Amino acid sequence: MSDSVATITGEDGKSAELPLLRGTHGPVVADVRGLRKETGLFTYDPGFASTASCKSSITYIDGAEGILLYRGYPIEQLAEHSSYLEVCYLLMYGELPTPAQMTSFEDIITNHTMVHENIRSFLNGFRYDAHPMAMMVGTVGAMSSFYHDSTDINNPEHREISAQRLIAKMPTLAAYCYNHHTGRPFLYPDNSLGYVANFTRMMFGVPAEEYKPDPTVVAALELIMLLHADHEQNASTSTVRLTGSSGANPFASIAAGIASLWGPAHGGANESVINMLDAILYSGETIEQTIARAKDKNDPFRLMGFGHRVYKNFDPRAKLIQKMCHDLLQQLGGDQPLFELAMELEKATLADEYFVERKLYPNVDFYSGIILRALDIPMNMFTVMFAMSRTVGWISHWMEMHEDPEFRIGRPQQVYTGAARRDYPTNT
Ligand code: ACO
Repeated sequence: MSDSVATITGEDGKSAELPLLRGTHGPVVADVRGLRKETGLFTYDPGFASTASCKSSITYIDGAEGILLYRGYPIEQLAEHSSYLEVCYLLMYGELPTPAQMTSFEDIITNHTMVHENIRSFLNGFRYDAHPMAMMVGTVGAMSSFYHDSTDINNPEHREISAQRLIAKMPTLAAYCYNHHTGRPFLYPDNSLGYVANFTRMMFGVPAEEYKPDPTVVAALELIMLLHADHEQNASTSTVRLTGSSGANPFASIAAGIASLWGPAHGGANESVINMLDAILYSGETIEQTIARAKDKNDPFRLMGFGHRVYKNFDPRAKLIQKMCHDLLQQLGGDQPLFELAMELEKATLADEYFVERKLYPNVDFYSGIILRALDIPMNMFTVMFAMSRTVGWISHWMEMHEDPEFRIGRPQQVYTGAARRDYPTNT
């Protein structure tokens, strides 16, 4: 993995030789671990755009080529042949399951779908209009108080049980947060249903009637969840790793990830896309006017759902979801004016020099918002759906970190720019 070296010389003339690391794919990396010790220098990289914080074998992204691999498998192939739960197994354990392993994994996840009754009481303590993400942050963190039997982070079995519990209980918690928010009764999970259908039943079902999952809705959600299952070292995953690096328990670590995901620059973007499309429709603005505003440097408006920090090509997830968006809206007869506007915007930007030059392509949020709206998922649940899908990615990274012999507590440095040392005034 390591070959030649780069050399850096500090102010006092002391040099450090930095070994170059090569992963399976991706750019060559200068290993700066010895830099401070050997030269007294350290590196400055706000936003970590040039910094690898860990080695990971879970997910690979090539933003220039528009490639996303989970454990080496292209996202397009997984979307076509796999299921969300199979992808959970793959992300957690590194290999696709055999049929027997898959059956056993499904049994384990299914048997952990219920939450402690006191969690329902806990949810009832939230204000009637609490945002479902606020409830998710609080409730997932609170789960640590229910599972003292399995929070020894140094025990691999405990780590695995916690991971399985989190994946299994997240749809139940997500649906309960929604039920509390809307005043609907809580439904217990129905273990005769699959993972996604169980979630839609707990969310949309009522105790007075039998619930029949809609296969179109289930298939659409399954794909959205699979596409959002992991995305390497993004803000929320890095937050989970950093939180967990201090030895925090998995529930507390995942709660920190949910808090990070909540921000509009991360998981909240698909909600912003719908708000933007609604506002354009409502105002009667033309596509030309909208694009002109997005290009105007004196106007803070940006086209929501366009551009990505990593993808400087079409986001492969956006390509897959775009097709599904077309198919689904045809079947459901969903929000056509909104979708037509989205398609016109996509076409116009792909032909516009400003967007082409800057490599601003529609991202996954551009389409996922439209699909979730067509499926009657309320807007304040969009980020909760993302959190539910990403839990497996977060917990897989958390497990990988604990198995990594190079793992240390995360503790970045800083460039201090405050007042120089001075004395407290004593004679005034
Ligand atoms: N609309 C108009 N112009 C844009 C947009 C946009 N959506 N995104 C970037 N630009 C322009 C910038 O003004 C800048 O132009 P300049 O070079 O003339 O100054 C150039 O493109 C580069 O933009 P940066 O902000 O430097 O790109 P960065 O990689 O830092 O930002 C981001 C990426 C935050 C995603 C940005 O493209 C954006 O704000 N997009 C809209 C919000 C969005 O869709 N977020 C979801 C991201 S996907 C996810 O989190 C799952």
